[in-house]
Amino acid sequence: VDAPVITLDGPGGAGKGTVSTLLAERLGWHFLDSGALYRLTALAAMNHGIEMTNEAGLAVVAEHLDVTFVQQDGETVIMLENDNVTEAIRTEEVGTNASKVAAFSRVRDALLKRQRAFAVQPGLVADGRDMGTVVFTKAGLKIFMTATSHERARRRVAQLTAKGIEADFDQVKADIEERDERDMNRKTAPLVAASDAIELDTTEMSIEAVVRFIEQEAKNRG
Ligand code: C5P
Repeated sequence: VDAPVITLDGPGGAGKGTVSTLLAERLGWHFLDSGALYRLTALAAMNHGIEMTNEAGLAVVAEHLDVTFVQQDGETVIMLENDNVTEAIRTEEVGTNASKVAAFSRVRDALLKRQRAFAVQPGLVADGRDMGTVVFTKAGLKIFMTATSHERARRRVAQLTAKGIEADFDQVKADIEERDERDMNRKTAPLVAASDAIELDTTEMSIEAVVRFIEQEAKNRG
């Protein structure tokens, strides 16, 4: 039998990461941070001097990505070729480059199998842009989470500030909007809600309210 899957798609900074982590924890399910795979591809390419325009080169990097996700004290540590890159992949520069490499279909194809391998018992919560439309089209529950770019920028700045990283609101908002633009307008797997997804505007919802809403939906569907 296939493992049950809940997909959470939506634009950057909508809180998908926090919500899916909490949800996976409460359900005791696995968690796939698909954005991390695109970020890792971008970082590996940067380390190896491969241009963000070189589709063939980037596809090779994605195919051979030497990455391990290690669970440590309830946190996920991400190792890339023996380096702990947990923090390094979260910078705006890597995020921007991730959205550039993610526009190439050969890169996306190279990461497909790796993503599907996460769908094992007892279940999977998958966070990304195309989880419901491409990677897990048969998922039992699909959520498309949005929030205004103003609210998403506010959340991202709060997150960065909490980590002691200085951030300029207007710059963060501009970056978010530029990334949205690229993610929504690319030819391959553009950011769009699956026709069978529940669209959830979280602008005025707390994290807890969002998690509870999804848990309830999951329960209702058995
Ligand atoms: O979610 P996160 O900000 O980590 O994603 C980084 C970038 O990776 C996104 O801007 C998007 O371009 C790309 N991505 C994607 N498909 C996914 C997840 C992320 O194209 N499933």
